[in-house]
Amino acid sequence: MTAPKSQWQTPEVALSFLEGVRSAIPGADLQMAIMSKIVEQWCRPPFTILDLGCGDGVLGRYLLDRFPTAQGIFVDFSEPMLAAVRHQVSHLPQAQVRVADFGTAEWVEAVADQGAIDVVISGFAIHHQPDDRKQALYAEIYDRLAPDGVFLNLEHVASATPAGEVLFDEFFIDDLYAFHAQTNPTVEREAIADKYYRRDDKVENILAPVDQQCQWLRDIGFRDVDCFFKTFELALFGGRK
Ligand SMILES: C[S@@+](CC[C@H](N)C(=O)[O-])C[C@H]1O[C@@H](n2cnc3c(N)ncnc32)[C@H](O)[C@@H]1O
Repeated sequence: MTAPKSQWQTPEVALSFLEGVRSAIPGADLQMAIMSKIVEQWCRPPFTILDLGCGDGVLGRYLLDRFPTAQGIFVDFSEPMLAAVRHQVSHLPQAQVRVADFGTAEWVEAVADQGAIDVVISGFAIHHQPDDRKQALYAEIYDRLAPDGVFLNLEHVASATPAGEVLFDEFFIDDLYAFHAQTNPTVEREAIADKYYRRDDKVENILAPVDQQCQWLRDIGFRDVDCFFKTFELALFGGRK
């Protein structure tokens, strides 16, 4: 059996995220509401939505729920995540699931039959790529977008200083602790913190500051680029073609 290229391709990391982390992300509802508002303002339905690094498709499904005439394409390279998203969208005829690794430009072949795409969204996925690959990927996304198409990246970004990193970690651990205490009243914050700091996927994080990433988007040609939401290391940024 070939070893997984990424921790995200293992059931342990995929399920631990889906069951124990995703619902504890601080500000998740607001992040999705802002994403939806931007799509509502900048896109005219019906449109095509590509969710890149979709996990169980939480972001794309949120938009499909709000824009029922939209088509959704969900892309990931992790079999456990693909199984989760296939299960979640099995009742949605307008949803398609594709396997692709956006670590190389070959991912575009997986969606080439879709023509130009109106909305590309991504959640907490692209920060696993080195910075030069992030920039190349943003350019590939730009090329795939229809005129006026929108790209929104909800992302784990770098703190300005190590002190900011500590603030974010402690803030996130508070939310993780509150989430797990709902189902396990005896859980201790220290145990949650220990698991958080020693999590397997942490080594795959290659964080870049959001202002630098916004500048990369502008350099590629995106317009109306901005960081639309930011709390410590959680940011929603993007622009349109
Ligand atoms: C932290 S999870 C986030 C999932 C989902 N976007 C969300 O907001 O909950 C990161 C996802 O990106 C996927 N991913 C990471 N690197 C990838 C790559 N090179 N190609 C495709 N998917 C990737 C992982 O398999 C995982 O499903």
